[in-house]
Amino acid sequence: MPPSRSQAFFAEDGVAGLTHRAFTAAMGYDSSDMARPIIGIANTFSELNPCNSHLRQLCDAVKRGVLQAGGTPLEFPTISLGETHLSPTSMLCRNLAAMDTEEMIRGNPLDGVVLLTNCDKTTPAALMGAASADIPTIMLSGGPMLNGHFEGEILGACTDCRRYTAEFQAGTISAETYKAVEANLVRSAGHCMVMGTASTMNSLMEALGIALPGNGAIPAADSRRLQLAAAAGRQIVRLVAQGIRPSDIITPAALDNAITLLHALGGSTNAIVHLPAIAGRLGIELPLARFDALSRRSPLIANMRPTGRYQMEDLFYAGGIPAVMKELLPLLHGDALTVTGRSLAENVARAAVSNADVIRPLSNPLQAEGGLSILRGNLAPDGAVIKHAAASPALCQHRGPALVFKNVADLKARIHDPALDVRPEHVLILQNSGPIGGPGMPEVGNLPIPQKLLKQGVRDMLRISDARMSGTSYGTIVLHVAPEAAIGGPLALVCDGDEVELDLAQRRLQLHVSEGELARRRAAWLPPAPAFTRGYGHLYLRHVNQAPLGADFDFLRGRDPALSVEQPKF
Ligand code: FES
Repeated sequence: MPPSRSQAFFAEDGVAGLTHRAFTAAMGYDSSDMARPIIGIANTFSELNPCNSHLRQLCDAVKRGVLQAGGTPLEFPTISLGETHLSPTSMLCRNLAAMDTEEMIRGNPLDGVVLLTNCDKTTPAALMGAASADIPTIMLSGGPMLNGHFEGEILGACTDCRRYTAEFQAGTISAETYKAVEANLVRSAGHCMVMGTASTMNSLMEALGIALPGNGAIPAADSRRLQLAAAAGRQIVRLVAQGIRPSDIITPAALDNAITLLHALGGSTNAIVHLPAIAGRLGIELPLARFDALSRRSPLIANMRPTGRYQMEDLFYAGGIPAVMKELLPLLHGDALTVTGRSLAENVARAAVSNADVIRPLSNPLQAEGGLSILRGNLAPDGAVIKHAAASPALCQHRGPALVFKNVADLKARIHDPALDVRPEHVLILQNSGPIGGPGMPEVGNLPIPQKLLKQGVRDMLRISDARMSGTSYGTIVLHVAPEAAIGGPLALVCDGDEVELDLAQRRLQLHVSEGELARRRAAWLPPAPAFTRGYGHLYLRHVNQAPLGADFDFLRGRDPALSVEQPKF
């Protein structure tokens, strides 16, 4: 058997081997430490990312597990992207974080790696990088926050951030109540506790088979999260011995399992960007059509906010993601390999649902089909996404006049203007908010309802953009329109008053303007000025793909046979 990556590193001849051993010894490690499998722990701990600020404690538990199993743990930091703190949007830096993770894994003498993540972008970014590096890997997220409580009501971040802000703007709650909601919303470490993007992605890790059972729903503050971390530490050492890599686990079947779970959970639209990006790293094409095909046969069975009633803490007590997957088993590839070394079906064999209102049986779903749909039409030739489970049924078949905002600045300047000529039947259009136009495809697709309509009792309108939205948002919102406006997609050609139609049953998004008129507007169209002329942003604008390809960089998709994790150090 060839030496492991770490053995080759420490056993090198001459000055190279001497420095590898001597500098490692300087940290207090001896030859017996160096003889064991070296397990990296890629830690996205950061005090600039509140959702990940408890990961040091989790890291200690992973180390304990690695040591128990006979490995040597070495922690290293990777970029941490905090959804609430990072400007202009964390998505702009997802690919940067993925590159950081990939290069740190590839460049260091690691035999296996545990990825410590939590907030929205940290999980997909870490997995994209680890998938490209392709050494044995286990994903471990930090877990969701505990439920918020206020006057007998359960609060959820950040669905209630938006709901109460809308009510405050409508004048239906006082400043005092609004402040009290803020004070009672976030009561523990962890990521947002509704089925937002972090809950979705960290749950899908179980279905992909790259995380241990329990990863999705064990609350951050629950002692079982620390036990899970120690178990991940023990299991990564076994995974290294077995030589099981991400490319053995993340297969088309595993991706189907993840998409089926996504629909069953009523999960975040952001998964429709992140999963194609992860798949692309392994050379797997994951077209939007696959999401739609699986949506039609995957019932919505998890009663989770923002589409349903419960939050992650409730889901955990009801049996967690293993129980959801056990219900779904007839629709899953149960034989898919996972990081436990066993199949997905074996992982969930002993799971059980303890509250059938949180996790419905397949025979009594909340909806017969999944919560997300892919739309096409002359407004979105390459596709668009709607979370119809969180939409108003009356607006899912709607035709109305467009009210167009050129970009986010234009939206902010005019949306609450009392003089704005807007009626409930209007279709709010936001242009230039995609991967290039945003830049970084910000979560602005849930355009606010104009205050003058809020005061009239309006709480939802059809809204269309090339942006993303937070998984915690709700409403009749069409997102990820491709191609985006900033590269001349049809969205760029929409003008005030144009008739726009959403026909969810037909999965259609149509702009009712003649071809001749569209051709005239296309000829007159000018692209917006680039948002960056230097630095990482400049690289991003030159290489980012459109949403259906996961908004990954064109040069990061697929495998490069010339690049190997076995490459020697110079
Ligand atoms: Fe981090 Fe919501 S802000 S998960």
